[in-house]
Amino acid sequence: VAIFVPRDAAALALGAEKVAKAITQEIAARGLDAKVVRNGSRGMFWLEPLVEVRNGHGRVAYGPVKASDVKGLFDAGFLTGGDHPLCLGLTKDIPFLRQQTRLTFSRCGVTDPVSLDDYRQYQGLKGLEKALSMAPAEIVREVTDSGLRGRGGAGFPTGIKWKTVLDAAGPQKYIVCNADEGDSATFADRMIMEGDPFVLIEGMIIAGVATGATKGYVYIRSEYPHAIETMTEAVEIARVAGILGPSVMGSAHAFDMEIRSGAGAYVCGEETSLLNSLEGKRGIVRAKPPLPALKGFLGRPTVVNNVISLASVPVIMDRGAAFYRDFGMGRSRGTIPIQIAGNVKYGGLYETAFGLSLGEIVDHIGGGTASARPVKAVQVGGPLGAYFPRALFDTPFDYEAFAARDGLIGHAGITVFDDTVDMLKQARFAMEFCAIESCGKCTPCRIGSTRGVETADKIAQGVEPEKNKALLADLCNTMKFGSLCALGGFTPYPVMSAMNHFPEDFAPTPFIEA
Ligand code: NAI
Ligand code: SF4
Repeated sequence: VAIFVPRDAAALALGAEKVAKAITQEIAARGLDAKVVRNGSRGMFWLEPLVEVRNGHGRVAYGPVKASDVKGLFDAGFLTGGDHPLCLGLTKDIPFLRQQTRLTFSRCGVTDPVSLDDYRQYQGLKGLEKALSMAPAEIVREVTDSGLRGRGGAGFPTGIKWKTVLDAAGPQKYIVCNADEGDSATFADRMIMEGDPFVLIEGMIIAGVATGATKGYVYIRSEYPHAIETMTEAVEIARVAGILGPSVMGSAHAFDMEIRSGAGAYVCGEETSLLNSLEGKRGIVRAKPPLPALKGFLGRPTVVNNVISLASVPVIMDRGAAFYRDFGMGRSRGTIPIQIAGNVKYGGLYETAFGLSLGEIVDHIGGGTASARPVKAVQVGGPLGAYFPRALFDTPFDYEAFAARDGLIGHAGITVFDDTVDMLKQARFAMEFCAIESCGKCTPCRIGSTRGVETADKIAQGVEPEKNKALLADLCNTMKFGSLCALGGFTPYPVMSAMNHFPEDFAPTPFIEA
């Protein structure tokens, strides 16, 4: 019998280590024939630590399990299907999981993340094997035909980016994976790196084979120590197994990679700033052009892709472009791992085809707020994303549909707020965040964000509110069109959406004398 206890950081934060220890002790004390396997997370955080038992019937889930529950679980005979109040039935039948389309996350939470045997057993390396039998241009065409767009936020077609690098001349090209996942409510990159690191390695090798790059870097934010540890271990295992190295799986292609960690700057998630940081320089934004695809890491042609973009490539190569493209709507093809967080009942990762409405995601999948109060606003796309009111809950999860409503999908993180939220404070927070994280290179962002905080404060104090609201809108306009990168350029989204959709929060109650 195998007992699965996640090693994912979210599960660890909720006590998974103590649970694993208690289970191990109980097995030894009772002399049972069972082993503990440390898997990734299934992404249902309200059930973590989610313990699974694999027996003759499949995998049965129990959760959330505390260390103090463990003795009771054994007493109830949970290894042999004994009933217990924490039993959730077969894991695959839990509605939150059953209704998903898990392509990129198919193995996450299922396998032991650092077991290459597990990886191979669950379709791992099939995409790479296929890629190795194809010409680089054919691989690029397959990725282009799949409709895959950059999952980091901008939604640029991955195949077109790869083609620019393939066509660029150069003795040395690079693949850089952006794992500086800094958006609020996002954890998809982290879950992949901790729960299925080989899929990212496989995606990066395929990118290398497709573009002629022989070296890769994964730039992971320093706040992700578990991801750094798991990725480092997986890279070493892949190297020993001959998957990485001078001859990738016995082929004529060479590819090796390294893990690098950031130092806590949000702006290093911006690709040129990330490249500067990777080169050991200060993490400051570079002007584009030149595009990193032509002059990137150390001035060489470089593919900079997000974790999820790269981790989606193996399944595309394995199942084919048409299979992947068949999911989704409009120009948003395939699946997207939606990360549901904030004040929400069922927070977690939900991979599904593009096209679900925001209302379905928040009210049905997320189950509304954890506080049981009405949902007032939902911020989509991280701290630089727009706030959506209930009136816009019919917006389908699609890049163009969100853009048409002055919003963005970004990295697909959703933060839910109940009716106690003050949207003026949220607008102020966006400006404050920008002021703290600004790299300082351009004036609209560096100065504008600080002026934005001051102006929001004046509105809150009731100082010439109409004039200051107009000033804030004007400032947003300057930042949107005058900033060099998305940090300054996108801060207006949360500010303006808060002001436009929730005007009542921007009209301070006049002081009434008793
Ligand atoms: P962008 O629109 O400037 O570029 C998109 C990508 O396409 C870049 O990698 C760019 O180099 C590439 N590109 C453009 N034309 C190309 C061509 N002809 N050939 C090859 N490559 C080409 O957007 P940017 O500034 O890179 O990203 C902004 C987005 O980042 C926002 O939408 C925001 O949602 C997201 N974001 C994500 C965060 C996260 O934590 N994942 C944090 C902050 C922002
Ligand atoms: Fe730096 Fe802000 Fe300008 Fe971006 S917008 S380059 S973060 S100062």
